[in-house]
Parts: sequence; structure tokens; C-alpha cells
Amino acid sequence: MEELVILNRTAEKAKNLAETLKGLGAKVKAGTLSLDNLDEELPTTNILVNATSAGMYPNIENSPVPSGLLHSDLCVMDIIYKPLETKLLKDAKSAGAKVVSGLEMLLYQGAVAFEIWTNYPAPLEIMRKATLNELEKQGVYL
Ligand SMILES: NC(=O)c1ccc[n+]([C@@H]2O[C@H](COP(=O)([O-])OP(=O)(O)OC[C@H]3O[C@@H](n4cnc5c(N)ncnc54)[C@H](OP(=O)(O)O)[C@@H]3O)[C@@H](O)[C@H]2O)c1
Repeated sequence: MEELVILNRTAEKAKNLAETLKGLGAKVKAGTLSLDNLDEELPTTNILVNATSAGMYPNIENSPVPSGLLHSDLCVMDIIYKPLETKLLKDAKSAGAKVVSGLEMLLYQGAVAFEIWTNYPAPLEIMRKATLNELEKQGVYL
């Protein structure tokens, strides 16, 4: 069974979330978002998701993960969409990893909501263009 590892700056919050997920049957462990823990976990990790705001505008030179720990067997998702290509995603690309930007989460949560409310398939490409136009209007670096 695959394991979920939740690392957060405030370890207490990660532990509370892990307890909730364990109650739903997930194999999960939690700890502090520290260099030691990243160093221990990342070599055997396949999917890395940044759900923190580290790297979000205006702190675009920040990343929650040192570039040297990223590798080509990773798929890295950053849920930040301002900017669309964060430092973490740039570093991940340079390390040969697959990358997924925060645009996808923004788009697909809207698509699911659209389908629940209308019972029609979501017009994903129209929604993608509209989202990108709106982000551009808001000055999001694309
Ligand atoms: N793509 C999407 O659809 C979508 C949807 C929602 C949010 N987002 C983005 O997701 C990000 C987080 O949003 P949120 O609403 O969850 O924010 P939030 O409630 O403020 O949570 C921020 C999280 O980031 C951690 N954090 C903040 N600064 C950090 C730093 N310098 N180093 C390490 N950890 C740090 C916090 O740790 P502590 O617990 O220790 O404070 C906390 O876990 C934002 O960039 C937001 O724009 C994207």
C-alpha cells in the first residue's frame, strides 16, 4: 500500500490532518517540513505536492524544497497559481521531473463544480482559456 507523507512547518497541524486521514483508512505519516525529513523522504517519493504558500507572489524566489533533492522520478505539483511557474516547478523541470501547475487544480475544481450543478460535461478548454485570460488580467506571471 502506498504511503502519504505530510510535512508542514507547524508539525502539529500535519499530525492532526494525518490522524483524520488515518481514520479514513489511509496509510499516512506526518512531521515537520525540515531539510532532514525532505532528505529522508524524497529519494523514494514519486509524487510531490506543494500545498503551502511558499513561493507565491511576491516571494517568487522561495521554494519549500531545495533543488538538489528533486529528481527525475518525481511528478511535482505546485498548487500555487501566482506565478504559474514557481521556483519549485522550474527546479523540478531542471531535474527532469514531470510538473503540474496550480492552474490544473483551479480549473478542475471548477469543472467538477460545473458538472455537479449543471449535469453537463464541463467545457474544459473554454474554461482553461477563460481562467488564463482572467489570471493575465490580474497580472499573474504566465
Ligand atoms: N490552485 C488552486 O486551485 C488553489 C486553491 C487554493 C489555494 N491555492 C494556493 O495554495 C496556497 C496555500 O493556500 P492556503 O489557503 O492553504 O493558505 P494558508 O491557509 O495560509 O496555508 C498556508 C500553508 O503554507 C505553509 N507556509 C506558509 N509559508 C510558509 C513558508 N515560508 N515555509 C513553509 N511553509 C509555509 C503554512 O504552514 P503553517 O501551518 O506552519 O503556517 C500552511 O501550511 C496559496 O498559494 C494559494 O494561492 C491554490
